[in-house]
Amino acid sequence: ASSGPVVVAIDGPSGSGKSTVSRAVAARLGLSFLDTGAMYRAMTWWMLANEVDVEDADAVAIACGKPVIVSGTDAAGPTITVDGQDVSGPIRGPEVTGKVSAVAAVPAVRARLVELQRGCAAHAERGIVAEGRDMGSVVFPDATVKVFLTASERARSERRAAELRAKGVDEATITAMAADLARRDAADSSRETAPLTQAADAVLVDTSELTLDQVIDTIAALVEEKAGLT
Ligand code: DC
Repeated sequence: ASSGPVVVAIDGPSGSGKSTVSRAVAARLGLSFLDTGAMYRAMTWWMLANEVDVEDADAVAIACGKPVIVSGTDAAGPTITVDGQDVSGPIRGPEVTGKVSAVAAVPAVRARLVELQRGCAAHAERGIVAEGRDMGSVVFPDATVKVFLTASERARSERRAAELRAKGVDEATITAMAADLARRDAADSSRETAPLTQAADAVLVDTSELTLDQVIDTIAALVEEKAGLT
């Protein structure tokens, strides 16, 4: 077992089940939880609210130091605020979702949020489960455990559609959102700075044929083995 705080780095594309799995693993093991996608979304929300042209990378880079973004890392009820305002609802809306890839591709934005992410890990009581696209590859290169979650494109789009259907979203919108998701994953995987990649020492977990509980059990077992947690 390594010394220092436990860091569990979980990366993967949208729809791999990352958020649900990461939060459940954190709750099970008594660790803090950090959704770094929410931070990129919060930054995007602030840019849109302040009429920054998010397609203008220079404008985004100049503005990105201004908002105060705070992540609450309790796995039982994670929160995110911008300048003291709770933005957990609006950051999931279509406006932010449609623009977040452009904002997340700006190196100055990443530098700023990576620093905040490392700060969250440093202040976590027992350790942290951090999920995103570059947790294992860039933000926490010495993580205790690195997991790369995948699922077949079909499994991912089916899960996403089921989620939306449960919320009462109509079929035309679901089809449009599937196209948007594919576009976003392509952008996140092909950008120059910290693209979505599997770290060399990450364990690949394909969730296509696994239940949620099976995925949680698999990752919790990996962490217990590496960190001696129970
Ligand atoms: O996981 P999510 O859909 O909430 O992430 C929102 C966006 O932020 C997604 O398009 C990719 C980007 N992101 C990133 O670039 N790096 C991270 N560590 C997390 C998310």
